[in-house]
Amino acid sequence: MRATLKSTTEIATLNCDTLVIPCYKDLKLNSDSRAIDKASKKQLSKLLASDDFNGNSGEIVTLRFVAGVTANRVVLWGLGDKDKLSRQSWAQACDALARTTTALPGKHCAVIGSIKTNKAVPTSWALQQIAARITRNTYLYTTTKPSKKNPASLTRISIVNAAATSANRQAITQGIAIGKGINITRELGNLPGNICTPKYLSSEARKLGRKYADIKTTVLGEKQMDALGMGSLLSVGTGSAEESQLMVINYQGGKKSQKPHVLVGKGITFDTGGISLKPGAKMDEMKFDMCGAASVIGTLSAIAEMKLPLNVIGVIPAAENMPSSKATKPGDVVTSMSGKTIEVLNTDAEGRLVLCDALTYVERFKPESVVDIATLTGACIMALGHHASGLLSNDDSLANSLLAAGTDSADRAWQLPLWDVYKKQLNSPFADLGNIAAGGAGTITAACFLSEFAEKYRWAHLDIAGTAWGQAGGKGASGRPVALLCEYLMSLAGKSAV
Ligand code: BES
Ligand code: MN
Ligand code: ZN
Repeated sequence: MRATLKSTTEIATLNCDTLVIPCYKDLKLNSDSRAIDKASKKQLSKLLASDDFNGNSGEIVTLRFVAGVTANRVVLWGLGDKDKLSRQSWAQACDALARTTTALPGKHCAVIGSIKTNKAVPTSWALQQIAARITRNTYLYTTTKPSKKNPASLTRISIVNAAATSANRQAITQGIAIGKGINITRELGNLPGNICTPKYLSSEARKLGRKYADIKTTVLGEKQMDALGMGSLLSVGTGSAEESQLMVINYQGGKKSQKPHVLVGKGITFDTGGISLKPGAKMDEMKFDMCGAASVIGTLSAIAEMKLPLNVIGVIPAAENMPSSKATKPGDVVTSMSGKTIEVLNTDAEGRLVLCDALTYVERFKPESVVDIATLTGACIMALGHHASGLLSNDDSLANSLLAAGTDSADRAWQLPLWDVYKKQLNSPFADLGNIAAGGAGTITAACFLSEFAEKYRWAHLDIAGTAWGQAGGKGASGRPVALLCEYLMSLAGKSAV
């Protein structure tokens, strides 16, 4: 997919397959839509005067073969009430447009970009969302179902008659990069567990290193992790025939002296629960238990595309959680890389076991910030459903940056408390910590567990159990929270769309 800004006075004869005309609820035309109206002998005014189109947010009417217009179809795109416009409503309207335009035939879609937004929605950001969300919608899973024909023939988006500023140009380029990053994440998430194994993930991580000059990837196998004392991480994969992996994807877009921002992604390529076996219903969905890892890979590829002037290190602990005679058993005590001992009371609470050693490992980078991303607790779905990712942090300014990035990218997160009183629930008579806690608040106690290994830096945890797949983005992996993470890093680099 590529996107460009275009200027023309001949909009009716613009060469494209689909021409999109944005329209608020006031149903007023601007100079560009008026030109189409004129060329089409008042087709638009007739439509607007009827009840067939009311300009509601996300409302779409497709007109085919409009006389006087070169494009094969004209799409009226409702934006709702201009005064009530928010980033969230704009993003939803873009998703509706994306569903329509990617289902239509033709390679080239032009969107009139000479629209005024309100204060809450910066113009270049609005254009970025059009590019990102259309790109996101061109994805269709076909890897193990090649018979499914991808209807999205769209390869080109023109934003027509928006101001030809560098801010707008940058925003559109970023939008494409974000959309592509999201689709990388969705594909990895959707791949079945028999294809997407820990070694498959590490080969994808290595691919990033080959594709981008600014990225260097290293991968540790079980032997090397054992030498580092990662007894907690390794305890998760002992029941599996697949070798556990730890990947380090180092993106250096900033100066060498700049401290890196670290992203740690949970990469459980399948979570059976281990000896604490999960019930059968919907267990197939546990192939998505590596969506945190996938979001790290998608985000790194997006920021490498954007060439963000920042140092970012992606770290992915990957393992398969299986029952077997070699598997870790409830009551087993393991020693983490930090030296802290952990009583594994439930082998299904395995995400925190791989993450804690990764969190200790990243101390060596002397990070500016560390954010881990994990499909960590079913409890998070109970608390927040499928709309917001859970956010917990040991640093309020970091938490606020991530919350803002979530709002600004319409990929929202909501903060839960990380109070000391919850930490007591993790006490164990046989080890420094138990891996599960009695007394409820499962999302918080899981984060409390992680916080024990993140004491040396500013750290935040995103629980994406409710947002990484399912309702949030239809069937399959949603690609969340790539947009949030990109926005967070773009804003750190001073490259947010305004
Ligand atoms: N991967 C799951 C969490 C999960 C479950 C995410 C369902 C999305 C949907 C995680 O490894 C897990 O099993 N967590 C347990 C923790 C419990 C044993 C303390 C859970 O949430 O039930
Ligand atoms: Mn589990
Ligand atoms: Zn899990």
